[in-house]
Amino acid sequence: MSGIDDMIQAARQAMERAYAPYSNFPVGAVVRSASGKLYAGCNVENSAYPQGWCAEASAIAAMVAAGERRIVEVAVMGQGEALVTPCGGCRQKLREFADAATPVHVCGPEGLRRSFTLGELLPEAFGPDNLEWQSG
Ligand code: THU
Repeated sequence: MSGIDDMIQAARQAMERAYAPYSNFPVGAVVRSASGKLYAGCNVENSAYPQGWCAEASAIAAMVAAGERRIVEVAVMGQGEALVTPCGGCRQKLREFADAATPVHVCGPEGLRRSFTLGELLPEAFGPDNLEWQSG
């Protein structure tokens, strides 16, 4: 069992539970928090198409609702030939709770395809640090 087998398994289960009847493109995402726990999410679409949300957003929401706020590792799983990297909005959502060095593992149903850092996916990101001058 490699270091991310647990994440891959959880991402696969979440992907299988995705609600994606409009795109037929199920996605599963998992974040590992600072405590080491895994939080999984899937995309949830809507007949009013823009109202759907991504797997990464679901996983982040599960982590925050559980009382955690630090992401140390991310895995995303989708189908097809192309790499299912997080969309632009999700890169920014991940940045809120992770940093440039945080690994993002992009997976297919068969397993890991390629690992990036969040900084590679969202270089020179705007983040919470940009607003720090306002506090305290
Ligand atoms: N999607 C995700 O959930 N995460 C990604 O990283 C890429 C795209 C979803 C949104 C939509 O439900 C479907 O995939 C097709 O875009």
